[in-house]
Amino acid sequence: MNIIEEAKQFFYSTIPEDAPITLKAHLEGFGSTLGYVLISLENSSVINEELVRAGMWLHDCGHYPLENEVDHAIRGEDRARSFLKNQGYNAILTEDVCHCVRAHRNNDVKPTTPEAKLIAGCDSLTHLIFAPYVDMVRIGLETGVKSSALEKLERDWRDICSFLPKDLTIQFSPHYRTWKNWIELRESGSN
Ligand SMILES: [Fe+2]
Ligand SMILES: [Fe+2]
Repeated sequence: MNIIEEAKQFFYSTIPEDAPITLKAHLEGFGSTLGYVLISLENSSVINEELVRAGMWLHDCGHYPLENEVDHAIRGEDRARSFLKNQGYNAILTEDVCHCVRAHRNNDVKPTTPEAKLIAGCDSLTHLIFAPYVDMVRIGLETGVKSSALEKLERDWRDICSFLPKDLTIQFSPHYRTWKNWIELRESGSN
């Protein structure tokens, strides 16, 4: 088995049996998004595809348990490092993958390598395409607690614009505007 297949199996092992389908669906969507972005890159030879695909499978391995206060990127980095060390991967590859995991939120730790930037951008593009905002808004309306869907959309768009090629941001800007209008309309109660 190679590192990609091992990372995939490890990711699935971190998901509880009774978990909703959401995270698995996100990873399957991510695989399609990443494939599309890779063929759209003008200079994809700078990307280590094995590293980026292993990073993709591990980037959300810290997601569960949900009730834990620790940021899933921090927990994911720790889990990914232990897993890769146990599998016998060398320190350089291990740290390169761990950086992809730790920086994928582009939050307190920023992505600095081509692979980590690609994962941060593709993670957000996957959200824009597969639209977790719909469920967030629905739950907000059902519970009467305003959702953070708009903030998530704005973060996603920020990372798409920061880390993906300009022609992709032009291509997907109608998605962004459509979701922004939709969320604002639904949350204002106008529709
Ligand atoms: Fe994540
Ligand atoms: Fe993700």
